[in-house]
Amino acid sequence: MSDPARRVTPVVRLAPAKLNLTLAVVGRRPDGFHALHSVMAPLDLADGLALSPAFGPEDRLHVVGPGGAPALDLGPVEANLALRAVRATREAIRAAGDARPLPALAIRLEKRIPAAAGLAGGSSDAAAAIDAALEAWGATDVLGPDQRVDLAAALGSDCPFFLAGGWALVEGRGERVTPLPAPRGEAPGVVLVTPAVPVPTPAVFAAYAGGRRPEGGATLASSRYLAAELAAGLSAARFLERAGVIAVANDLLPAATALVPGLVAARRALARILDRPVGQSGSGPTLFALSPSLADARGDAAIIRAALADGLLPLPGERPPFVAAATLVGVSAEAATVAHPEPTATT
Ligand code: C5P
Repeated sequence: MSDPARRVTPVVRLAPAKLNLTLAVVGRRPDGFHALHSVMAPLDLADGLALSPAFGPEDRLHVVGPGGAPALDLGPVEANLALRAVRATREAIRAAGDARPLPALAIRLEKRIPAAAGLAGGSSDAAAAIDAALEAWGATDVLGPDQRVDLAAALGSDCPFFLAGGWALVEGRGERVTPLPAPRGEAPGVVLVTPAVPVPTPAVFAAYAGGRRPEGGATLASSRYLAAELAAGLSAARFLERAGVIAVANDLLPAATALVPGLVAARRALARILDRPVGQSGSGPTLFALSPSLADARGDAAIIRAALADGLLPLPGERPPFVAAATLVGVSAEAATVAHPEPTATT
């Protein structure tokens, strides 16, 4: 903090969404969380975060929507994970015995990722906020990799994945992250459709624990196989041949559809109009279809918008869904440089 210029320069970060390509639940842990085996990829759909010094004693948060539009209601500011991450980072620096000044920070968060959607927007914001706060305070050397993972895991199960930055096999409750190489070749496209029905993760896991789960362990087998194939090196073309398996490799599908029954018909209708397998990311309700490129994903998004306009796509929710074309990016450095997908909420 000796350089006065850095006090006025905002620290900016992109906080990418994630897609669960597979999600196997492998058991219940003593702490009540579920143990997972999940292959995850970051997307170039991202929230934007800027941290600058706050004028005053308290950290502050200002949330806007895409392009600076007024944000939809995202709940109480105090519960926001970006704000909690900044506070937790300060505490972790203090706990590490470091006494440097850690002035209050003003966080500007541009939300482009739908909330409670299975895309881990909040966890990604938290991971980006940890990184940005450390830089804003000139404290990147204070916390080692393990301490950062502990800090991230305490904020949200999906948080450690974003610290690693890239494709990964995620295990435990989310804290064991093994980087995987992304497929070689053009970054696969994906169209995302998020019905306007927020689905809280705890409710989905509770439904799973209550018995809404698939039989047989097929998802774990698929997840292990995909992780091994990626680790060995997979071309983008071969990866896309797995789209049908990926679309069903989610143990939380029955639990999510127990909460939002309309998801079954929505998946079927999407698969029919796109002629592609349609999966669910994480605990939902976001549905996705993989394709060879961003151009293909944009084509899929156009088909979906036309079907919605013609009343041919039955989706749960009172409002129109969020529809976005994106790509599965290779590493976070790429995520920071690729163009954002077009603003895609259909209104
Ligand atoms: O960590 P996070 O806040 O995302 O978790 C939300 C809730 O989802 C947890 O309180 C828990 O009920 C459930 N969960 C779980 N197992 C996981 C992740 C989340 O049971 N691996």
